[in-house]
Amino acid sequence: MRKDEIVIGAVGLGYVGLPIALELAKKFPVIGFDINEEKLDVMRSGKDPNDELSSADFLGCDITFTSDSNDLKSANVYIVAVPTPVTRFNVPDLNPLQAASKTVGSVLSDGDYVIYESTVYPGCTEEDCVPILSEESGLTYPEQFHVGYSPERINPGDKVHTLTNTVKVVSADSAEALSFVAELYESIITAGVHRATSIRVAEACKIIENTQRDVNIALMNELSLIFDRAGINTSDVLEAAGTKWNFLKFYPGLVGGHCIGVDPYYLTHKSIELGYTPEMILTGRKINDNLSKHVAKKAVLMISDQGVPINKSRALVMGITFKEDVSDIRNSKVVDVVKELESYGVEVDITDPHADSSSLHRSYGLELKEPSGKYDCILLAVKHESYLALDESYFKHLSRGQGALMDIKSLYTGKISDMLYWTL
Ligand SMILES: NC(=O)c1ccc[n+]([C@@H]2O[C@H](COP(=O)([O-])OP(=O)(O)OC[C@H]3O[C@@H](n4cnc5c(N)ncnc54)[C@H](O)[C@@H]3O)[C@@H](O)[C@H]2O)c1
Repeated sequence: MRKDEIVIGAVGLGYVGLPIALELAKKFPVIGFDINEEKLDVMRSGKDPNDELSSADFLGCDITFTSDSNDLKSANVYIVAVPTPVTRFNVPDLNPLQAASKTVGSVLSDGDYVIYESTVYPGCTEEDCVPILSEESGLTYPEQFHVGYSPERINPGDKVHTLTNTVKVVSADSAEALSFVAELYESIITAGVHRATSIRVAEACKIIENTQRDVNIALMNELSLIFDRAGINTSDVLEAAGTKWNFLKFYPGLVGGHCIGVDPYYLTHKSIELGYTPEMILTGRKINDNLSKHVAKKAVLMISDQGVPINKSRALVMGITFKEDVSDIRNSKVVDVVKELESYGVEVDITDPHADSSSLHRSYGLELKEPSGKYDCILLAVKHESYLALDESYFKHLSRGQGALMDIKSLYTGKISDMLYWTL
């Protein structure tokens, strides 16, 4: 396919799909397809529903937004970036990926390319998606269409490591297809691309990037559980250990969101299917998933240390998004802390400068509030930039009596003298 013949069909326009679609739309005509009409309307007005991109990012882009799959027919290179969540039993939920593959299959023509960007387990593209593409299109694979896989490394909220300045791993089903896919991405990724030796290698590489983070954070969380019992401040220990050249800098914390807390389950699922039950990865997941309960229990202890009956106590949770400076509340473990605190009878107010109140209500039945009145415990849960400039007098002002600050991200270690203080 010649460069001037390329028409991109971008399927799934979320945190991953929209930036890619817009970047490609500076070079090629792009048909942006999504099933969410509400989001499409926002995009049509030149805005990112997730507030990650600015209106300027839409300027000069040759892109149309649609929920009608017939509009995709004129595309010849499809890029699929739909969600890959897990079910409540932590097994991969391939429904969005299968549905998107059906949509693409229904408009696929001889000679087209389909490149998947969704995070999946090794083998998923060829074993789960390609048969759907073939069946829906009636085309034979790999004679009549090609498939590629290029995992996404975008880090929402991160203004330093961007889509275009981060090396992108690319893969495809043949040497010729790999050249095409690599050149397509090279046209937008200034940092260049890494050609993986196979689609499975590219799928595996993405999943281990997040699994590695998850396991390392789990180790830090376990150390924090130990040091808490020993009465040692974990961040002091990490600061000291970090002076050695080969000590890796990971920190304890709540592991939520759509990636780190989810992707390892894709790998463990595949592993179990292959006859090996992973131990370290699943243990890491268990430690990280249980941390919310530990934090809530600590909050309850700090409230009762002040002589306040739990069922008459009030807590303020500052930050409900899954990480700093984003509006994303998917799989937020702070929500689990809130629910746990409420189950003890604590009245909880939640404040967050980035989260959207109606999404929070829709997803979890929780409300955002401005802090009002006095609290027995303040839980600083997320490292939003606007929280970095606060000081003890701010927290003290919101506290009834002595007050307790639970500083999950260790932002105020060594800076709190008058209140009860705890950090992971
Ligand atoms: N968010 C991240 O930071 C990040 C980073 C790297 C990789 N990923 C991976 O990228 C993939 C997409 O994640 P995301 O964060 O962009 O998700 P998202 O929820 O922000 O966006 C997905 C979009 O796909 C749409 N969609 C769902 N089903 C569809 C279908 N059948 N056809 C067309 N559109 C459909 C949704 O309406 C939504 O707009 C996931 O596999 C995720 O693991 C995400």
